[in-house]
Amino acid sequence: MRAAVCHEYGPPEVVRVEEIPSPDLGTGQVRVAVRAAAVNFPDVLIVANRYQVSCPTPFVPGSEFAGDVTEVADGVDGFAVGDRVMGTLFVGAFAEEAVAAASSLTRIPDGVGYREASAFGVAHRTSYNSLRTVAALQPGEQVIVLGAGGGVGLAAVQLAVALGGVVTAVASSPTKLEVARSLGATHLVNHTDGDLRGALKGVLPEGADIVIDPVGGALAEPALRALRYGGRFVTIGYAAGEIPKIPLNLVLLKGIRIMGFEFMGFTTHEFAAMVRNEAELLDLLGQGRATPHIGATFPLAEAAAALRYVGDGHAVGKIVLDVS
Ligand SMILES: NC(=O)c1ccc[n+]([C@@H]2O[C@H](COP(=O)([O-])OP(=O)(O)OC[C@H]3O[C@@H](n4cnc5c(N)ncnc54)[C@H](OP(=O)(O)O)[C@@H]3O)[C@@H](O)[C@H]2O)c1
Repeated sequence: MRAAVCHEYGPPEVVRVEEIPSPDLGTGQVRVAVRAAAVNFPDVLIVANRYQVSCPTPFVPGSEFAGDVTEVADGVDGFAVGDRVMGTLFVGAFAEEAVAAASSLTRIPDGVGYREASAFGVAHRTSYNSLRTVAALQPGEQVIVLGAGGGVGLAAVQLAVALGGVVTAVASSPTKLEVARSLGATHLVNHTDGDLRGALKGVLPEGADIVIDPVGGALAEPALRALRYGGRFVTIGYAAGEIPKIPLNLVLLKGIRIMGFEFMGFTTHEFAAMVRNEAELLDLLGQGRATPHIGATFPLAEAAAALRYVGDGHAVGKIVLDVS
């Protein structure tokens, strides 16, 4: 099969597309003919060996995919050859075939395409669990979303609106902000204009209820300062490359709650909420209210360029590799 392979850690350009043997099918696993795979920021970090968990080389990057079931291991119930499925892995998705645990696969709802399905697993689950359970968003609440043009941020815009929130989108370009508006954001703030704190105060004079932060860096503190008394701040990631240091007196003075979301920890400790949220999210996907925005599509042969595009912060919504 053809696959994108990382033989040595480094920038996206170390990834080359070549012929390699198909992966073996293990106990409890399902083989999928991949039709589309989405690129995530952590894929760039894993290739660079800058992610919190290392993957020994050589490996096939890629953590989410959609396609058709072609083989099911003995004893696996619930999937049959020909089923349309989407799934998540740590690595292995940027290939013509992927092998995944049956437990990590979900049937694609009718009417949802492979590209959208491939782009749904990481960003939408992250944002929905963060909004629904960690931030406990209530209808009518004001939500600031940082990185609102990126994969997680744009999903947060769309899903906060679906949950009844009023969204202030913060991003670095008019293009990203327009897409956020098209998915329901009410207020748009371009942080490259300077004085993010002042701009947020201008659109939210009473303060926000919630901040969703997948970016970190210099944006986190002004966003936290824009919370009202008792507001909630959810830290999700540090795409800016810098983990912010927040003066705790701000937290004390405004009674702010700072909370984190991390997928593995959440799945382990909040299993019941995760199962409920998953069902709600699939309903929203089936209704067309959680369809990922695909900003660009690359052929599998250009996997390195797709990783570069995401790593450089150009992605608007999700970037997908076409593997068909
Ligand atoms: N906690 C979890 O379970 C979890 C799950 C998924 C992802 N994440 C993390 O969440 C973060 C965002 O992921 P994503 O998929 O949304 O990424 P993305 O699509 O690349 O979006 C990241 C956004 O961050 C901003 N940014 C600022 N400085 C940047 C820089 N130096 N390089 C790249 N982007 C920069 C950009 O927005 P503007 O330039 O417009 O401000 C960009 O749109 C990543 O750190 C990822 O690892 C965490």
